[in-house]
Amino acid sequence: MKNYRTAQFQCEVLAWEENKIRESLMKIGAAMGLDTSLNGRTALVGGASQGIGEATVRLLAEMGASVVLLSRSEEKLKTIAKSLPNPKSHQVLAVDLQDRNLLQQKLAEVLKKTSIEILVCNAGGPKSGPILSVADSTFLEAFETHILANQLLVNLCLPGMKKSNYGRIINIISTSIRQPIPNLGASNTIRSAVAAWSKTLSSEIGNLGITVNNILPGYTKTPRMESLLSAEMQRSGLPLVAVEEAWRKTVPLGRFADPREIANAIGFLSSPAASYITGVSLAVDGGRLSTL
Ligand SMILES: NC(=O)c1ccc[n+]([C@@H]2O[C@H](COP(=O)([O-])OP(=O)(O)OC[C@H]3O[C@@H](n4cnc5c(N)ncnc54)[C@H](OP(=O)(O)O)[C@@H]3O)[C@@H](O)[C@H]2O)c1
Repeated sequence: MKNYRTAQFQCEVLAWEENKIRESLMKIGAAMGLDTSLNGRTALVGGASQGIGEATVRLLAEMGASVVLLSRSEEKLKTIAKSLPNPKSHQVLAVDLQDRNLLQQKLAEVLKKTSIEILVCNAGGPKSGPILSVADSTFLEAFETHILANQLLVNLCLPGMKKSNYGRIINIISTSIRQPIPNLGASNTIRSAVAAWSKTLSSEIGNLGITVNNILPGYTKTPRMESLLSAEMQRSGLPLVAVEEAWRKTVPLGRFADPREIANAIGFLSSPAASYITGVSLAVDGGRLSTL
């Protein structure tokens, strides 16, 4: 028991030192002219239980933010929250984005105690398949998850952003807004709608100093990519290695992204350093888009 207590104490000291080192590095960055500290800020991150959302949660917490982790899987979110720097400063919001009544109710509870200043709108992508095979229900689900939920989240978080005089809205969409991806009919359609919604929003709330931007991830090693790879294996009849190789060849950097590499761009857009960037869609795709 005594050894366990000593080990636990040593872990706490190490975590405290790690936080101090991180804070010092950010202070040095700010002193050198690049202010990326999120100390004292609160972020809400969607799709927080895995993939790009989880990597974003980890990075924003490392940058000093308190994070509200949103997805449907409460236990996964709790485990992630416990593993973050300053674990007690984070909260879990387990809700299905399609259940907007419950979302409104649960988020209102959170907002009684804190303002959300950084909102990362992120959720799972729609089912794959060619456009003519997309069922009405798939389009409707995608519209609910990616437009109606985003709109509700923004409306609920805006008053806090105004009050804090700090607001960053970042939507995770896809390179398909510039170049539709074969066999992703529903996704290609809804992503462009989100891009149009987001651009409109950026022009309507720019006068408040609140920025609205989109991240367009390329092939990123997450559970979503695994499911797209297996859909492509089924469609083409090719083995996994052949599908991966064909996809990799389309990326000038010659590899798939680690989720952290997408989160890095989100972290920058969340920070004070990105104060004059709004209304843009930033591809983080290893150069894969062939558009200018
Ligand atoms: N990975 C890529 O290569 C890639 C490329 C381009 C675009 N994207 C897009 O970027 C976004 C994030 O990608 P990812 O690869 O990290 O996705 P992912 O691995 O599929 O993760 C999706 C996340 O969204 C949550 N989620 C799904 N449906 C939800 C709902 N109805 N309500 C609340 N939460 C929900 C999931 O958690 P729960 O199951 O716990 O709810 C999970 O945390 C997706 O829209 C994806 O399509 C990804």
